[in-house]
Amino acid sequence: MKLIFLGPPGAGKGTQATGVSSHLGVPHISTGDMFRAALKNQTPTGIEAKRYMDAGELVPDSVVVAMVKERLAEPDCANGYLLDGFPRTVEQAQALDEICAPDAVVEIHVPDERLLSRLTGRRVCPKCNGTFHISSLADETVCPVCGDALYQREDDKPATISNRLKVYHDQTSPLVGYYEGLGKLRRIDTEALPKDAAGDCRREDVFQAILTALE
Ligand code: AP5
Repeated sequence: MKLIFLGPPGAGKGTQATGVSSHLGVPHISTGDMFRAALKNQTPTGIEAKRYMDAGELVPDSVVVAMVKERLAEPDCANGYLLDGFPRTVEQAQALDEICAPDAVVEIHVPDERLLSRLTGRRVCPKCNGTFHISSLADETVCPVCGDALYQREDDKPATISNRLKVYHDQTSPLVGYYEGLGKLRRIDTEALPKDAAGDCRREDVFQAILTALE
C-alpha cells in the first residue's frame, strides 16, 4: 500500500507511522527525519534545510522532491510506502503523482489549541529515534527505551511552533481538498475519540481509527 499521513505539526504523524508502517509492512519515510539525519551528517542538503527548519518554513519543493524521488526508488519501497510529512504543497503532491501516486491519504485532524502543549512537551531520543511527551516520562532527560539522553527539537520552541502552524494552514492544508477531489482522503477526527485523564485522545485509539479508515 502507498500511504500518506497528513496533518499539522504535533498531530501524531510520526507517533502513528511507526506502528502503522510495521502493520502494513511498508517503510516509514519521514522527510523531517531525513533532513535531521542529513544535518547530523553535515551533507549539503542538511545544511541547506537547517535554515528553513529552524525558522519553521518549508524547504524548497525542488530539494524535497529530489530527495523523496531518490528514496522511493530504493528496493524496500517496491511494495509501497508510508510518507510522513510529504507532500506539503500542491506542487509536491503533483510531483508525487508523477513518481508513484498514493492509494490513500490519512488526515490526522487535531485542533491547534492541543498542538502547542504536545510540541513544547515533546522529547526525542537521538539513538533509538523514539518520541515521547514529558507527561509520560518519569525523567524527562532520559530515554525510557534505550537510556540515552533525550533532547528538545530546535523547532519545538513556541515562536517557531506558531510559524509552523501558520505555514501548515497556508501551504499544506489545501492538500485536504486536493486529495478529497481524488477520492483518496480518509479523515481521522481525533476530537471525536474518547479522552484520557489529561484530556487528550489515546494513541492506541488513533491507531485503531486509522486501521479502520483504511479497511
Ligand atoms: P517534520 O519533522 O515533518 O515536522 P512536522 O510535520 O512539523 O511534524 P512533527 O514531527 O512536529 O509532528 P508529528 O505529527 O509527527 O507529531 P509526533 O508524532 O511527533 O518537519 C520538520 C521540518 O522539516 C518542517 O518544518 C520543514 O522545515 C521541513 N520539512 C519536512 N518535510 C518537508 C516537506 N515535505 N517540504 C518542505 N519542508 C519539509 O507527536 C507530537 C507530540 O505529541 C509528541 O510528544 C507525542 O508523544 C505527542 N502525541 C502524539 N500523539 C498523541 C496523542 N494521541 N495524545 C497525546 N499526545 C500525543
